[in-house]
Amino acid sequence: MPLVAGKDLLTQADAEGYAVGAFNAINMETAQSIIQAAEEENSPVIIQVTQTTLAYTEPEELAALIRALIEKAKVPVAMHLDHGRTFEIVVKFLRLGFTSVMIDGSLQADGKTPRTYQENVEVTKLAARAAHAVGVTVEAELGRLGQIGTEIPESDAENALTDPDMAARFVEETGVDSLAVAIGTTHGLFKGSPTIVHDRLRKIDEKVSVPLVMHGGTGVPDDAVRKAIDFGIRKVNIDTQIRVAFYETMAGLIDQAQKEHAEADTAGQVRKYDIRKLLKPARDAMREAVKGRIRVFGSSGKASAFTGV
Ligand code: G3H
Ligand code: ZN
Repeated sequence: MPLVAGKDLLTQADAEGYAVGAFNAINMETAQSIIQAAEEENSPVIIQVTQTTLAYTEPEELAALIRALIEKAKVPVAMHLDHGRTFEIVVKFLRLGFTSVMIDGSLQADGKTPRTYQENVEVTKLAARAAHAVGVTVEAELGRLGQIGTEIPESDAENALTDPDMAARFVEETGVDSLAVAIGTTHGLFKGSPTIVHDRLRKIDEKVSVPLVMHGGTGVPDDAVRKAIDFGIRKVNIDTQIRVAFYETMAGLIDQAQKEHAEADTAGQVRKYDIRKLLKPARDAMREAVKGRIRVFGSSGKASAFTGV
């Protein structure tokens, strides 16, 4: 079915009380694994691309490839810019035909230094105005999530969480369609389990009218995710978990291939190199990881509201 607006997916999720999974793609195999998983679960899904991926691949090519896959998908799919740090990046993704964009004004363009509340409002307002002018959905972020290399010290953890009153004011001032909140999750892998501050989330949800977004979904225990969905989370971002599935599968296959090559050498035979034998199982593993999360998010079967199937 054709590409859908991010807002349509979140509005429906809100009406039915589930969350839409937003999974990061960098190439054909990651995008295919996400769409296949969503189709097998008959679930709506969001494919998201970060601005740093632009350094890995030609943006126009990646966008065209993802769009082609989405157009033949049997479930509704939105294309989302994940963590756009500047107005210019947001405009670039609008031109690429994305149906949802995130302007992450919580940090400066370097992705490390925090922006002030006012700086965040200003860049978010500007990006929201541009996106809304062309009918594209806007997600923003308020608060600070930990991430590898810039973990939030224990003493500052409470301050980093999103403040409910500030969040209400922020949404009002910027006009965004959804808000990513800091409630104890961390980007990437971390030692132990994150502590999700559900009480803070509940307070934010009471004050904020738009759907809420959980970033750093990898490693958050299933129960904690379900409880967060009860308190207004309507989009959950997953990136690292997909990469782990890819790496772990690939590492085993490379080991196996090296053994086979050694055996071929000993037997005086030629080595075989078929990268499809590596990529297919890796794609399957990513698809299974995505399916598992979709089930936790409660979105299985929810594509029917869009397709009637
Ligand atoms: O924006 C993307 C994410 O928040 C993903 O976080 O890598 O911890 O799953 P993750
Ligand atoms: Zn994120």
